[in-house]
Amino acid sequence: MKAYEKLLLENKAWAKEKVEDDPEYFNRLSLIQTPKFLWIGCSDSRVPANEITNTQPGEIFVHRNVANLVIHTDVNLLSVLEYAVVHLKVKHVIVCGHYGCGGVKAAMTNHDFKQVLNMWLRNIKDVYRLHTDELNNIENEEQRFDRLVELNVIEQVQHLAKTSIIQKAWRNEQRPDLHGWVYGLKNGVIHPVFEMKAQTPIDRLYQYDDL
Ligand code: CO
Repeated sequence: MKAYEKLLLENKAWAKEKVEDDPEYFNRLSLIQTPKFLWIGCSDSRVPANEITNTQPGEIFVHRNVANLVIHTDVNLLSVLEYAVVHLKVKHVIVCGHYGCGGVKAAMTNHDFKQVLNMWLRNIKDVYRLHTDELNNIENEEQRFDRLVELNVIEQVQHLAKTSIIQKAWRNEQRPDLHGWVYGLKNGVIHPVFEMKAQTPIDRLYQYDDL
């Protein structure tokens, strides 16, 4: 059997098991999608949103990219954000990074990953530059890496707060809360590292006053 054929076979077994447990399972799911959470995570295969939070299909709206970045020209990310906030009316947006992130590690090197990846990873180098003093004071390389993972998540949450999508929802509906989390690959535990809510002040420079 080819590797991908196993996926299809396992899918059949999974669907059968779900219906046996609960005959209405798929009927119910297909009728409503009302997730309370938008998850912006890393594409890393070891950080599956539903599995590590023990949630079911229908509970979390998910966007994933390399190193969980929120970039203001990323139409894919912005479409997901707008749909989740404006139409699904999610209560929480979670940016979940993870220790041991290959994207963050790559950005800490001076290696040429060629144009497209260089362009993407440069955003993480910018986070490093913003926190050069703090990071360069950490002698242990592993700890410096861990800290950059945390700072990257914090930075991406702040990027969310700079969008008119979030600012408008905050002004009109006092939601969503923004959360920065870091998942530990070695112990499976998520550490909350940052939070922003409708009342959280943001840099005046980024505030829209005529939304
Ligand atoms: Co990663």
